[in-house]
Amino acid sequence: APAQSLTGRRVAITAGPTREALDPVRFLSNHSSGKMGFALAAAAQRAGADVTLIAGPVSLATPPGVKRVDVIDARQMKEAAERAADLCDLFIGAAAVADFRPVEVAQQKIKKRGGSDTDSLALVKNPDIVAGIAGRRERRPFTVGFAAETEKVEEHARDKLKRKKLDLIIANDVSVPGGGFNSDRNAVTVIGADGATHLPSTLKSELADQLIEIIAARAFAR
Ligand code: C5P
Repeated sequence: APAQSLTGRRVAITAGPTREALDPVRFLSNHSSGKMGFALAAAAQRAGADVTLIAGPVSLATPPGVKRVDVIDARQMKEAAERAADLCDLFIGAAAVADFRPVEVAQQKIKKRGGSDTDSLALVKNPDIVAGIAGRRERRPFTVGFAAETEKVEEHARDKLKRKKLDLIIANDVSVPGGGFNSDRNAVTVIGADGATHLPSTLKSELADQLIEIIAARAFAR
């Protein structure tokens, strides 16, 4: 059984993609399965935490004992995350939030325009959920983010750690075959201000237990 490293702690985790509506039948999104975030929620629960899982649209079962809040788009995810963060000790942003959303959501299905073979779409940046929480001056939980990178993984992750004011970042090389999005396995490097720990490729459930132990030690070590 996992060590009860999070007993009495409240943990909030975002997971999965977001969906940004374009019209009543279309959206922008990505291939995130939500598996890593759900595995982390299950691991945090096993470690004794009271866990709120803020889930984008995914087809995964809720881990036993975890409180789940379903959302669709980035702004809904931010609202749910901010509310959960007000009450939590540890916040983990594992969601693949869409960076942009359409400026306008058409009320009716957008029709093909005749004549031109090209078209364009106006987009606006979504709020950065994890950076908003990490940047708090009050009620700030220990905040952990993810960095999915395809090159210069540690360098880009360290930049993100600083820019978003995170306590820890979990760097994920998504160019390695058999890891990252949609896979059941993953290898990561956990990076903080005082060093990095590499965790070699393993099942996401096993990796989640290892990550929760590392995070709990860094966040709550007495
Ligand atoms: O900047 P990038 O999207 O690579 O950062 C990834 C990290 O930031 C993840 O922890 C992700 O959950 C979080 N994020 C967020 N809100 C956004 C974009 C990313 O919370 N709008």
